[in-house]
Amino acid sequence: MLKKTALSAFLLILPALLPSKLCAEDKIVGGPFAVNVTGRSATIGWVVQSGEVKVGESRLVPVLRAEKVSMTGLKAGETISYTIPGGLHGTFKTAPAKPSAFEAVVFGDTRTRHDLHRKIVSAIEKTNPDLVFHTGDLVTDGLDTEQWPRFFDIERGMLNKTAFYPVLGNHERNSRRFYEFFDVSTPYYSLDWGGVHFVLLNSDLGNAAMSAQARESFWSEQLRWLDEDLAKAQKSEFRVVVMHHPPFTAVKSRQAGNTPVMAMVPLFEKHHVAVVFSGHDHNYQHHLNKGVHYIVTGGGGAPLYPVDAPIEGTTVKVESTEHYVRLLAAPGSIRMEAIALDGRNLESFELKP
Ligand SMILES: [Fe+2]
Repeated sequence: MLKKTALSAFLLILPALLPSKLCAEDKIVGGPFAVNVTGRSATIGWVVQSGEVKVGESRLVPVLRAEKVSMTGLKAGETISYTIPGGLHGTFKTAPAKPSAFEAVVFGDTRTRHDLHRKIVSAIEKTNPDLVFHTGDLVTDGLDTEQWPRFFDIERGMLNKTAFYPVLGNHERNSRRFYEFFDVSTPYYSLDWGGVHFVLLNSDLGNAAMSAQARESFWSEQLRWLDEDLAKAQKSEFRVVVMHHPPFTAVKSRQAGNTPVMAMVPLFEKHHVAVVFSGHDHNYQHHLNKGVHYIVTGGGGAPLYPVDAPIEGTTVKVESTEHYVRLLAAPGSIRMEAIALDGRNLESFELKP
């Protein structure tokens, strides 16, 4: 009996005797940030590193977990400030109920050149946008746990002051991490913000499912949903789409590669979509086809691609440079401004309902 008691006592104090590395304190390596923001609800997320796994002689892979709180009962068009456990602060605005003035930024392809990614994010942060849309390829490999803390470190100052809406790029590899970190329940969905209906799509068909049959069924279901969602949003002043793969591109080596998304083009035309944002090609492109503007904004840090094959009668403007796009909405209009990393205005144009 005595022996058993002594063993129990030893087991109780055992954790305190183990090396401290196994009991490393949690630290926040991502966020906080606001996602799934509507006029009355929002989710605040952050990413915690609870330790590291030593792989081989010197590689340390972080152990990450996503934390979140969701809330309802908010008021439309309100500025919310919050503090998460650990003391980090953030703010965001809830969606305005009626057509209103607001500012969004769209940018993407932030993998690879981290110094340029940091500069672009710093430039975006100064514009203080209400919402930020990321056109995908946030990191080089979404399945690689080591890459996410760096992404969040670079984007921290911007993410804690806005509502964030990323879409899946092919480099995310449909990773569960993407869904966990950004509290994404379905890879395609829509939201309304001050008279504008935003639709976020998963154009990464290649990673959408394991079998060809499952991919085909995912794609046809997404197309069916898109048709239905856009049909229901005809009373919105504008309909805006964000996805990773561009239907139109002036990059010659890519012109044959985006066939699946071409199936969406008739739906964009049928339902009077104002503008479709994509990434994937690392440059700025503006095409206008049958009344729909197609913007490629993939200038967030990934290696630049040449724009060597403008499409006659469709391409409006191209430039191979790091940049982001501002969307300045007001009742009855949206002003679009493409801004290069050096501050140059690459192009401005106005959208009318
Ligand atoms: Fe891509």
